[in-house]
Amino acid sequence: MKKRLRGTIRVPGDKSISHRGIMLGSIAKGTTELTGFLDGADCRSTIRCFQEMGIDIIQEQDHVVIHGMGLHGLRSPVDTLDVGNSGTTTRLISGILAAQDFTSQLNGDASIQTRPMKRIMEPLNQMGANITSIRENGCAPLRIVGKPLHGIHYDSPVASAQVKSAILLAGLYADSETSVTEPSISRDHTERMLRGFGADIRTLGRTASVLPCQELHGQQLFIPGDISSAAYFIAAGLLSNDADIMIEHVNTNPTRAGILEVVRRMGGSVTLENQHDESGEPVADLHVVSSHLHGCEISGDLIPTLIDEIPVIAVMAAAAEGQTIIRDAAELKVKESDRIQSICDNLAAMGCNITPTDDGMIIEGGAPLHGAHIQTHADHRIAMAFTIASLLTDDDVMLDVPHCVTISYPRFYDDLASLYD
Ligand code: S3P
Repeated sequence: MKKRLRGTIRVPGDKSISHRGIMLGSIAKGTTELTGFLDGADCRSTIRCFQEMGIDIIQEQDHVVIHGMGLHGLRSPVDTLDVGNSGTTTRLISGILAAQDFTSQLNGDASIQTRPMKRIMEPLNQMGANITSIRENGCAPLRIVGKPLHGIHYDSPVASAQVKSAILLAGLYADSETSVTEPSISRDHTERMLRGFGADIRTLGRTASVLPCQELHGQQLFIPGDISSAAYFIAAGLLSNDADIMIEHVNTNPTRAGILEVVRRMGGSVTLENQHDESGEPVADLHVVSSHLHGCEISGDLIPTLIDEIPVIAVMAAAAEGQTIIRDAAELKVKESDRIQSICDNLAAMGCNITPTDDGMIIEGGAPLHGAHIQTHADHRIAMAFTIASLLTDDDVMLDVPHCVTISYPRFYDDLASLYD
């Protein structure tokens, strides 16, 4: 990539932390103030759902004030709650709704109606809730009849923070301890934030447990930048011939920062500066310079720590020298699109030698890429990853639904353009 990239950038607030801030703020007692909130379509869906349940939430761009009504302060919603495109909203909110003394319904867009919800229905129903898939296909729309819950221990078959979080949130309302063991550790923002709000929560290896809770207390939270959004600029910087960029104030939580390990394995240069903690999360500035990348293997416990970055990691691998193998990532098939297929089809269309597998892909890096029509499937991360891929060719690369980036990063194209001089 012959482009010159220079400058300092701040990416929007972390999406996972923003969702959780709205949810915990809504069921805490007192005021919660979020600074650095991600003003994207997914997090707005979460705000709307809690407003529909009577919570006073005032949002102005990245600043949000929530007047929480306590664990039992939600009101029965008049209509079906609209979760839009957001899997995080759907699964986490189900954990809270499972314990309410009212019945609710959740639904969202065409993509959300294909995403697997049995993974949360099963454990929450084991706790005593009554959640059904209205079309009996294991997907939304969901009907949730709230019930008094009892604590369980759940051995989760998937490393999913959404599953773990749904169970832990329901566990706040249960009559005894609730714990979840996962096959690999997934992002732990819920555990960290619950601790900050005053819940009695413990983690030991791959198990997280929570005790029944009397009350959560409103907090002031500073939300760091989202490493999943920073990932596009990390890739752009590494792949450019002449790049020296600083991405300020990024969340570097080890359960999220697997891309930094991949960069190290590929021989890339990203250094962490100004490391500190904020609102219970580690934060750093990322200094990225042009690098010569080589292929590597990405598998096992590393996968959940970079699952959302795999589209752009695949683009890095296509430009790197040699082979990259991604394994143990079957979860990619049930994201906003089937990302194994959407990554492989689109990189192949650009001239990359890439083979999909059941749980990942094999990428032969180094072939010159050419222009193509990219089918994003309205998946924000595919759109952003292939915008970075477009920098690797002088040909035209056309995205079918470029505006889908508003799900997680409305200013993405402007921020990328700001780095060129
Ligand atoms: C998320 C967890 C991950 C991730 C998603 C956000 C969260 O999903 O892909 O974008 O905020 O908990 P899974 O829990 O399904 O792995």
